Amino acid sequence: MYESLLSKRSIFAHNSILEEEKVADSIIKKGGKVIEINRGDPAAYFPTPKYTIDAYVKALRTGRTNYSRDSGVIPLVEAITKRYKKKYNVKASIDDVIVTAGVSEALLFINMATINPGDNAIIFKPFYNQYLTQLRLSGGIPEYENYDEKNNWDLNPESIKKTLTRLKSSGKLKRTKYMLITNPNNPTGTVLSRKVLKEIVDLSNEYGVFLISDEIYDEIYYNKASFTSLSQLAKGIPHMVLNGASKDFDATGFRVGYMLLPENDKTSLELKLKFAEMASVRLCVNTPAQYAFAEAISNGKMHEKEIKHMVSEIAKRVNAAVDVLKENEKMAVVRPNGAFYILPKVDFKSLRIKDDHEFVDKFLKEEHVMLSRGSGFGAESHVRVVALPPKDILEYAMDKLNRFCKKYSK
Ligand SMILES: Cc1ncc(COP(=O)(O)O)c(C=O)c1O
Repeated sequence: MYESLLSKRSIFAHNSILEEEKVADSIIKKGGKVIEINRGDPAAYFPTPKYTIDAYVKALRTGRTNYSRDSGVIPLVEAITKRYKKKYNVKASIDDVIVTAGVSEALLFINMATINPGDNAIIFKPFYNQYLTQLRLSGGIPEYENYDEKNNWDLNPESIKKTLTRLKSSGKLKRTKYMLITNPNNPTGTVLSRKVLKEIVDLSNEYGVFLISDEIYDEIYYNKASFTSLSQLAKGIPHMVLNGASKDFDATGFRVGYMLLPENDKTSLELKLKFAEMASVRLCVNTPAQYAFAEAISNGKMHEKEIKHMVSEIAKRVNAAVDVLKENEKMAVVRPNGAFYILPKVDFKSLRIKDDHEFVDKFLKEEHVMLSRGSGFGAESHVRVVALPPKDILEYAMDKLNRFCKKYSK
């Protein structure tokens, strides 16, 4: 008999967002319907724009089915550099962009390229669950800093400074490979103010920690929020921005994303070269999808129209869901300003349900609505709602949530 072949680190390969899928499948198999608000997939609710689909079909029909340039096809890379010039006044060249199979693969590259077992990275709690998984899979250790729920899930630069100081005095900062922010944020919905972002940039520079901003929701903000990209404030400082087709361009299934490193300091140059090497190891990203994404970005007029509609709908849906949840005495909810998630805090002490795990499982089995447990995002007393379904369905699901809490009230 063979011994187990699994590595020790493979234990971290798990996605908490998807762990109730089997339960949902069995409900559906028995003829039941499930409202799935566990996965942040806009393309499941807003059809990918037709002009983008047409570009995909055109790419297929014109023979774009070959292996393509490892770091991304030139029309896409140029579309990305032009986007950053136009939107954020960032000068970037072709070598500053590495196209990846989604931000997910960018995270894989980052961790594989930088983390030796025992190295650490600074992650902000609550976090997008993959950050921790991918860091752990590479043998890295998370150092946490917190979003402040009492202050609308904002970040506190003073507290970040304390964390950096603590890491420095304990000698751990030497092994801190990066600090990763998400703006707008999944799962908190926070959109960082320019002031707070600038303070974070200054701290990363002062302590010499490489700063990464995952800006995959950079066009999805509302409720009067305004967005500033890291690339606007970190000129002259080593940094990287992550982005892609999944959210703003409503094409999650294309699996295209990118890393942008606009600086040419020693650290940025070294990373760019390594990421390009990593891209060459896996040959290329889905070729027709890259051409379609190039068109999705380049056709500014069409994109403007599509994103305007999607964001105004998302804002309505998120706000409507929050309004229903505000009536729930067992939950405290912060109204998001960006992305499309809501992260209510559940008062478990006053419920006959012990934790978020049991809550999500029972709610699915009894009410046929699939949420994600907060602990998967480092938010133990919370559950995460994806506020993408049409308003009436979402309100219906939130109403179920309120009644479910009443039912299990102590
Ligand atoms: C913050 C954040 N980053 C990255 C991703 C994954 O992006 P991609 O589809 O480009 O792999 C998600 C998906 O929900 C996300 O919320």
